[in-house]
Amino acid sequence: MPVPQYAPTPRELDDVELVVSGALPGPLNAPGSALSLVLPSAVEASATEAGAVEIVDPEGLPIARVTWPAGEVTGLSSPAYGPFRRLYLTPSQTREAYAGRTVVPVTDALTTAEIAEIAALGPVLLLALVGHGTPSLSPVALLRASLLAADALPDAAVVAVPLASHDDPEANHALGVSVVAAYAGGDPVHALAAPTSEDYPDEIAAVIDRDQPAPEEQGLVIFFTGLSGSGKSTLARALMDRILEQGARTVTSLDGDVVRRNLSAGLTFSKEDRETNIRRIGWVAAEISRHGGLAVCSPIAPFDSTRQDVRGYVDGAGGAFFLVHVATPLEECERRDRKGLYAKARAGEIPEFTGISSPYEEPADADVRVDTTGRSIDEALDDVIEGLRSAGYLSL
Ligand code: ADX
Repeated sequence: MPVPQYAPTPRELDDVELVVSGALPGPLNAPGSALSLVLPSAVEASATEAGAVEIVDPEGLPIARVTWPAGEVTGLSSPAYGPFRRLYLTPSQTREAYAGRTVVPVTDALTTAEIAEIAALGPVLLLALVGHGTPSLSPVALLRASLLAADALPDAAVVAVPLASHDDPEANHALGVSVVAAYAGGDPVHALAAPTSEDYPDEIAAVIDRDQPAPEEQGLVIFFTGLSGSGKSTLARALMDRILEQGARTVTSLDGDVVRRNLSAGLTFSKEDRETNIRRIGWVAAEISRHGGLAVCSPIAPFDSTRQDVRGYVDGAGGAFFLVHVATPLEECERRDRKGLYAKARAGEIPEFTGISSPYEEPADADVRVDTTGRSIDEALDDVIEGLRSAGYLSL
């Protein structure tokens, strides 16, 4: 049985990196461990059979071998990608290069007052904790800001540590303490208090501004989900027209029927192909949002887990995800039956038809829910626009 390979999410990769770099003793997945790795069920089944799983980076480079289910980790290589990779050192590399400095853990851009406080400590090592959920800035912006702070200090170096935070604050704290201790060795650790001002040196303020654009400048994915005939495409088109009329942003449309004629040509309506279809839409939309763009998607997207995947892609790309549930009931969609598909589905001519012979999982996480029954498109559109406006994304 060959050892299966698994390319984890960036957050999971942070955990593996931490263990591989030896910052935390003990296996991944040990009882009470702050670190864990969740494998997709198919991978888990073959990992259990083979007794191990190989963790690979997004390009397929093996990072570590993890015994399964015990979770003992053996490092194979360090991830070779990512900006500022040279700053990611193991605890022993850090000790070798920087022993004798006061270690200052950093999770946010340093303020002018904090830089003055650190300047009084003598030679320092800024330990930038850049794991998912740890910094308020993106990891790359935290490193940029920390390097600028180091330039402003008399003698400072910067090391990046991928410390992911999890849902358990106590475990996060314990993990943070043990990781910082591993990097500091016997050197003193200086913990900064919560900053009392928002006064930053100009260059650092510019890094923050660029990293956290105002909501109306941030990448945005507006994702309509609902049954066939619910009014998704019509609403999406009307919304795009309003946005284009206003002229502040350009828009890319990823409509279900249109995508199926190009990006997803050849896919069926099986559960698996629908998931592939939605993940493709989500992947493209996330890339658009990465560059500050606006994508309006309108597929059925019947499965909650796939919608969550899309939310994750967009989040990972730094965009905002706005979910609109077009909740027009099945009876109304079927009564309209503009394409005649419901009649055919009832007659058994179309298999796996959403709402008839294939499920639609209602979202519990929609930002706006609109039922178009007995309402004009403009009325329904107003609900969507109001939601977008109050979230600060659009000022239509
Ligand atoms: S999804 O489930 O993968 O999100 P998508 O939005 O791309 O669906 O495509 C849905 C459109 O395909 C519907 O509007 C309808 O016109 C057409 N269609 C054809 N067969 C089916 C089917 N079995 N179930 C749902 N829609 C179908």
